[in-house]
Amino acid sequence: MKILVTGGLGFIGSHTVVELQHEGFEVVIIDDCSNADVKVLEGIKAITGKQPVFEKIDLRNKPMVEAFFVRHQDIEGVIHFAASKAVGESVEKPLLYYENNLGTLVYILQELSKKERASFIFSSSCTVYGQADEMPITEDAPVKAAESPYGNTKQMGEEIIADTCKVTQGLNAIALRYFNPMGAHPSVEIGELPIGVPQNLVPFITQTGMGIREQLSVFGDDYPTADGTCIRDYIHVVDLAKAHVVALQRLLNAKNEENYEVFNVGTGKGSSVLEVIQSFERVSGEKLNYKIVDRRAGDIVSAYANTKKANEVLGWTAKSTLDEAMKSAWDWEKKVRKS
Ligand code: WQD
Repeated sequence: MKILVTGGLGFIGSHTVVELQHEGFEVVIIDDCSNADVKVLEGIKAITGKQPVFEKIDLRNKPMVEAFFVRHQDIEGVIHFAASKAVGESVEKPLLYYENNLGTLVYILQELSKKERASFIFSSSCTVYGQADEMPITEDAPVKAAESPYGNTKQMGEEIIADTCKVTQGLNAIALRYFNPMGAHPSVEIGELPIGVPQNLVPFITQTGMGIREQLSVFGDDYPTADGTCIRDYIHVVDLAKAHVVALQRLLNAKNEENYEVFNVGTGKGSSVLEVIQSFERVSGEKLNYKIVDRRAGDIVSAYANTKKANEVLGWTAKSTLDEAMKSAWDWEKKVRKS
């Protein structure tokens, strides 16, 4: 069965391609390589023994999207990762984010609406909850006003899909609300490749551990948490990738009564910034150079998932511990720097 993975050369996309191939799916990747390298294809092949079909397409080009679906009429499902994801950049360039993240979504949904039956998985984010009133966060928690155009594209993306599903009988969709993905494939053939200075905590930690960054700034230790630093739900990217496969299988087997559903994808466990640093020090045996600085604008205090719905409905649970995920991130960082 043929599945299109947009953004399939990216961090979460590439790990999902691997898990799809493990389950016997035939994968076609579309990526514009704006934030990813074609060499990722070799990493995927080294793990699965099979190189997926790859087409370099900018999804903002509607005629190219239409032509792609004409060439690949047998595509039965789409996992749509392709999107811009830098929160700060989205504030500077809102229209770029609306075009990249929502324009392309509309084009793909238009193509899928032409089919008698199609399955669609959307990369959403826990960012839609903002600072939730209760922890852990359930899918019923209210969606809060977005802090950035990036966050807005995830909220609006979900609404666009929900509205389309209401009037498109053959379309089945799931939005997965990711918490904080980290780590790399245990084979260290694929992993995260941030361009420039990492904005996210874990790659910044591993780069500091390697001496590429001098020091990690911990953004605030005066939050109302046990150690004063912010709490997040860090999920191993392989666990996250597997969630996509089970979500897709649910849609393909038409086990869903509603044709649009949302699921939290996290571990259910919150970890503070200092706990993440301690995890790094445990698995690497290195001391991390860090200092406490002022809070970062826009950070929420705490976000971790209630995963009951994904556990019960999808039969999926995150398996890896923070230390296992951290070890894979560290092994990957060491490999990338050696090569
Ligand atoms: C984690 C914690 C920081 C860097 C991410 C994505 C965002 C959205 C939600 C996708 C926070 C602290 C970080 C550093 C630090 N995802 N930190 N020093 O803020 O949860 O946001 O998930 O839709 O796009 O970016 O993740 O990794 O940036 O930060 O102290 O140098 O680490 O304050 O508490 P965040 P993050």
